[in-house]
Amino acid sequence: MCGVTGAVIGSVGMKRTLIQELRTDGVVVLDDFSPFANEARHSALASGFGAWRPNKGDVGSSVYDGMSFYGNHALLLAPLMRALGEPMVPNTMFFRSTNQDTEGAYVHSDREAGEFTAVVYLSHHDDCYGTGFYRNRRTGAERMHSFADMACDQQEFDRLKAEMVRGSPDDWEQTRFVDGAFNRAVIFDAPLFHARVPRHGFGGDAESGRMVWACHFVMLEGIFNG
Ligand SMILES: [Fe+2]
Repeated sequence: MCGVTGAVIGSVGMKRTLIQELRTDGVVVLDDFSPFANEARHSALASGFGAWRPNKGDVGSSVYDGMSFYGNHALLLAPLMRALGEPMVPNTMFFRSTNQDTEGAYVHSDREAGEFTAVVYLSHHDDCYGTGFYRNRRTGAERMHSFADMACDQQEFDRLKAEMVRGSPDDWEQTRFVDGAFNRAVIFDAPLFHARVPRHGFGGDAESGRMVWACHFVMLEGIFNG
């Protein structure tokens, strides 16, 4: 155990307070998230994992090893919708397995991918793993501004990008850490700076690696009301 410092709400039954907790605290942790977690994990393993080289270009190398897009997302999406208790719209969803030789994790924000992010841990490990949240030591920021806003000051944007890719404790103070555990979900405000822990995963293949399901989503209300 490494300790959970996010707001632990408990089971998925307390759906009425989850959005309020997300909007006030920024991070919510749910245990026993999906009754179908084993099936979801096996669906990802059955679909296979590969390298994805998108043309993202904004931060880092844009090479993602261990990606799977074809697993059974419904097994995790349905509990997420039920837990939120309000209509939501998934923007992107994927399974990811990270191994010892995976490129080191960046400190990053999911702001450009949605309003909130849900990460469900789908592997068992004896060693410490999870998700860290960070404050930039130089600016004090815990949330990233949009790329469009940051592009107004290219010098500062470039400096922040370098800090994000480096992910050094010299640049980033960890503000909280959510301990990974099988079938635990961490749902958080997408602009928050965060990174997977450890920077490199476990094992040498998808079966032994650190596996998560990630979903970037927006609340239906937000799409139409800005
Ligand atoms: Fe992320």
